[in-house]
Amino acid sequence: MIRTSFCILVVLVIFDFPVIESQSLKSDGTHSARFPTPSRDFVEHAALNCRRQSAILTDFGAIGDGKTSNTKAFREAIRNLTSRAGDGGSQLIVPKGKWLTGSFNLTSHFTLHIKEGATILASQDESEYPMLQVLPSYRDTRFASLIYGSNLTDVVIAGDKGTINGQGKSWWAKYRNGGFKSIQRPMLIEIQSSENVQISNINLIDSPMWSIHPVYCRNVIIKGVKISNPIDSANTDGINPVGRPIEMLLIRRFSCIAPNGAGIAMGSEMSGGIKGVRMEDVTLHNTQSAIKIETAMGRGGYVQNVWARRFTIKTSKYVFLMTGSHKPIPRDGNIPKAKPVVTNINFRDITGENVSTSAKLEGMKSNPFTGVCMSNVSISLSPNASKQQFHCMDIVGESRSVKPQPCSLLPDKHPGVRFECTFPTEKIPIENVVLKRCAGHVF
Ligand SMILES: *[C@@H]1O[C@H](CO)[C@@H](O)[C@H](O)[C@H]1NC(C)=O
Ligand SMILES: *[C@@H]1O[C@H](CO)[C@@H](O)[C@H](O)[C@H]1NC(C)=O
Ligand SMILES: *[C@@H]1O[C@H](CO)[C@@H](O)[C@H](O)[C@H]1NC(C)=O
Ligand SMILES: *[C@@H]1O[C@H](CO)[C@@H](O)[C@H](O)[C@H]1NC(C)=O
Ligand SMILES: *[C@@H]1O[C@H](CO)[C@@H](O)[C@H](O)[C@H]1NC(C)=O
Ligand SMILES: *[C@@H]1O[C@H](CO)[C@@H](O)[C@H](O)[C@H]1NC(C)=O
Repeated sequence: MIRTSFCILVVLVIFDFPVIESQSLKSDGTHSARFPTPSRDFVEHAALNCRRQSAILTDFGAIGDGKTSNTKAFREAIRNLTSRAGDGGSQLIVPKGKWLTGSFNLTSHFTLHIKEGATILASQDESEYPMLQVLPSYRDTRFASLIYGSNLTDVVIAGDKGTINGQGKSWWAKYRNGGFKSIQRPMLIEIQSSENVQISNINLIDSPMWSIHPVYCRNVIIKGVKISNPIDSANTDGINPVGRPIEMLLIRRFSCIAPNGAGIAMGSEMSGGIKGVRMEDVTLHNTQSAIKIETAMGRGGYVQNVWARRFTIKTSKYVFLMTGSHKPIPRDGNIPKAKPVVTNINFRDITGENVSTSAKLEGMKSNPFTGVCMSNVSISLSPNASKQQFHCMDIVGESRSVKPQPCSLLPDKHPGVRFECTFPTEKIPIENVVLKRCAGHVF
């Protein structure tokens, strides 16, 4: 799994929406040919697919006063729209207001559109979150997320700057008091075993646990998302994708503040492996570590083919943190000799400012991390920076133009020859996805 902490995310994957699909929508599904003009009932967003059928949450008796429970309304609305989704897909519009609700499930060929000024407020009543089965990667049973979906195809959560507020405070407090022994708290959004998933233009705040958790999904686009959780909240990762393995992940135009965590972390859970991660144009302010890879003997799996470029890092304890001595998996399935493989990890065009320690790179004794490459890295130090800037153990790699002077395990292997760490030039398929502009009136 790859984690991003308390974050202001800009793009996880891709953009551009030159295709215009415009129609006037009625909640009975008919649509007029008239080109719509913006008004109170006008909805607009960019999405993988536009929908023919539309309904507004208030059609199902919802009350947006922030106090009345709308759990039944959300569930009934989606049940109703599921039956109509076969005819060109369906969407549920959440209008301006504060809509208190417990957990509900999404459906296929469906869009949840959260309008500007609309807030979906998560219920703090545990009985409103069904219990779900354990995932193979975790030992805990779990509450369903506030917004959950599994075995879906073509599902969109597209805001128009709408908000999902997890009201996590009571969950964090109970967790800190040992209240959830072997139960995972709810995520805000979890989509499992699904494909063609989009989450865009929404604000997520105060999640009980992680904010966005795509599990075993294919073709996921997360863009224009702003996530904020208080620094003293408990384990509230921003985006935490899990795959079998994670492959072809692109993180770009991403910025993040995470004083107690990493800007971007890979591991320690891997669900098999992490392979082919591109990261570019990333800005991190005040992180404990900027980029972290962590694993341990017994966890198995791999992290391979990671490319990072154009990072701007301001105030960080570590810029590069790699460790093979993270805690082992605390469960029965732990195979003590399962060696994780960490190889081909590339960092280039990176600047750091006000940094305490540039790098701590520690592989495993009989199992070094290999192919670690750093080029064009320039780090300036904080007034109380440590004397030793590179801590290296059990790694194999090389470097070029790195300041401060890197450790001897990262020698310049090509003196006198032009050299930079690699970054792939070919695009991955999801970069070619073009979002459509979906706009229309809802009566
Ligand atoms: C639910 O869907 C049916 C059509 O399948 C429709 O006739 C009915 O009005 C819908 N209910 C609401 C509250 O919109
Ligand atoms: C959502 O789906 C899961 C199974 O996929 C189920 O266990 C859960 O009860 C459903 N939630 C609701 C609110 O129906
Ligand atoms: C969902 O998909 C998973 C994995 O493909 C499968 O094991 C599970 O039975 C499916 N669940 C449902 C409700 O179809
Ligand atoms: C080095 O990285 C900086 C960004 O940190 C970039 O502006 C510059 O062009 C890079 N230099 C080379 C030679 O690639
Ligand atoms: C530099 O980092 C220290 C923490 O190491 C922090 O207290 C200080 O505010 C930072 N200075 C600037 C100018 O950001
Ligand atoms: C000094 O450095 C440590 C890390 O080595 C850091 O945690 C601390 O915030 C720094 N303090 C100041 C005042 O810069």
